[in-house]
Amino acid sequence: MTPKLIIHGGAGDDPHSKGSKAETKAILHQIVSAAYSKLLAGASALETVIYACQLLEDEPRFNAGTGSVLQSDGQIRMSASLMDGQRQSFSGVINVSRVKNPIHLAQFLQNSPDRVLSDYGALELARELNIPPYNPLTDQRLQEWVEERKTNFQRKMAEVTRGTIGAVALDQAGRLCAGTSTGGRGFERIGRVSDSATPAGNYANAFAAVSCTGVGEDILDEGLAVRIVTRVTDGMSLADALAKSFQEARSRHRDFAAIAIDQKGTIGWEKTCPVLFAAYHDGEQVGDTLS
Ligand code: GLY
Repeated sequence: MTPKLIIHGGAGDDPHSKGSKAETKAILHQIVSAAYSKLLAGASALETVIYACQLLEDEPRFNAGTGSVLQSDGQIRMSASLMDGQRQSFSGVINVSRVKNPIHLAQFLQNSPDRVLSDYGALELARELNIPPYNPLTDQRLQEWVEERKTNFQRKMAEVTRGTIGAVALDQAGRLCAGTSTGGRGFERIGRVSDSATPAGNYANAFAAVSCTGVGEDILDEGLAVRIVTRVTDGMSLADALAKSFQEARSRHRDFAAIAIDQKGTIGWEKTCPVLFAAYHDGEQVGDTLS
């Protein structure tokens, strides 16, 4: 079947919050095209999602991997997860430090008896795998933290706080996969757990796959990804599942967005906030959610 791919680099209020809109759009197009070429060459949905997430984690304008935001104590702690829809298998890391690509740890854990590791255990795993230590801090993120620190983090949450990256793919064999990675909400209390490494923020089965971005607490409260996937599994179309889930979310003033693909190859997305930074390849062309 025709493979499909959609990726995101977060959501927010301002289309220029990650640098110029044109540049962000060009980067998303570049990454979706590179990852789609792999999918077309026969890569599995899982392999493609890992590759797309790696490229997005390596792009400093997005809040994941290099360019992750700092927490209240000035440290970076990242979270990432993968869900292989065919095997209905979830894996992830929570609050890991000093690695370049948290998604690679989630990849390893797909085949481990212990599939979600937190801070110390995740770092131990990175050492076991001989992954070299890496500092994901950028000057821009440090400057943002210093500015917020001056007001003791009392200002309105910075735009980056709705940053996350994610990818959802359907491969030629009809297998679905979702991956999500984040530096977290930014300026948060030590030990705060992001939705991105939970089934609320990232979920897939044989029927649909979803990756979320936005305020993690809102995503957790809605059980968003698993809610959308369950609705599709129970027979609702992807478009209706997204519309219903987001209508409910709006009534509760939630602040987030999601990207999705179903087993038939329908690509979808929805948001409660003004902007979603996403791009897709539908088998014919690249498109995006930035007008
Ligand atoms: N959605 C990312 C976070 O709130 O941690």
